[in-house]
Amino acid sequence: MKHLLTIGELDPGQVQAILDLSLDLQEQSPQLLKGKNIAFVFEKPSLRTKVGAEVAINHLGGNVVDIDGNLMFSSGKAVPFSFRESLYDAMKNVSQWCDAIFARVFSHSTLEKMKEYGEMPVVNALCDQHHPMQALADLLTIRQNFGPDEKISLTFVGDANNVAFSLTEVLLYFGHSVTFSGPKAHGWDDDKLQYFKLLSIDHGGTFTITEDPKEAVYNADVIYTDTFISMGQEHLYEEKMKHFDGYQVNMKLFSQAKPDAGFMHCLPAHRGVEVSDDVIDHKNSWVYQQAKNRMIVSKGVFTSLLYPELLTGEETIESIEAKHQLI
Ligand code: CP
Ligand code: NVA
Repeated sequence: MKHLLTIGELDPGQVQAILDLSLDLQEQSPQLLKGKNIAFVFEKPSLRTKVGAEVAINHLGGNVVDIDGNLMFSSGKAVPFSFRESLYDAMKNVSQWCDAIFARVFSHSTLEKMKEYGEMPVVNALCDQHHPMQALADLLTIRQNFGPDEKISLTFVGDANNVAFSLTEVLLYFGHSVTFSGPKAHGWDDDKLQYFKLLSIDHGGTFTITEDPKEAVYNADVIYTDTFISMGQEHLYEEKMKHFDGYQVNMKLFSQAKPDAGFMHCLPAHRGVEVSDDVIDHKNSWVYQQAKNRMIVSKGVFTSLLYPELLTGEETIESIEAKHQLI
């Protein structure tokens, strides 16, 4: 694994290996990232992704270098001379000092360019289409609640967005059943539907869509939602709020799921919009467990990128520590 831009570039074995490594590093913090400088550059705000990863890197002895997004992402601005330098030059420079870069961007194509221009691993901290770090933490959360081998049915109610996409991919990789429910105007395009169908066939799960949220949540093990208005979509507020009328996860909807069903949300939540207070504060709401797992999974991801031999099993934590004198 050289970069992590999407779940789709991992195979299920690699996902499993990242989660196993994350759990190995959960309680102990060997100094595997000692001497490593990891650049963080965020084009939009973040609490969980940024702080969770920074704490993980600190635990493992690494150093985070926070780069002002304006220094790297200004070259797209239309006003002449409003930018400092091209993304190409910025990436070539950061590659001289840093060992990896963690980037949150508006457009997935920016991450592709960063990968092409840089000489270090690029990790997606969320873009318009994917949120792989969230999906890995969510899979861990589901396994912690149901056990590692149980096949579950999860219903995502809401927007066909970055979080829903990566979550659906990772669940279908492991043969789970996913139902998606949202207004047609904000649903998946045909290519994505076809991709999910193929994943479900290949790995023995199911993928279903229905516009009717009541039908979608019936008997589900987990209900998941995300904001209806993602960062960068603020101008779509009025249109989307009309379309998403009726898709709030409230007690009336949640009670249609299995009696002990769990509730998940990547956060930040807009209480009273996509989710009611009584659902997000319900005893079966796992939202803060998901947040905790963002840190745990970050340990596995950054360590795997900087020491890929840990994922293939060629090396162990102990052999890496000894070889690189990290103790
Ligand atoms: N879930 C998530 O990515 O949260 P942040 O936007 O706070 O990082
Ligand atoms: N879909 C949301 C997720 C935030 C973590 C967004 O892109 O803003």
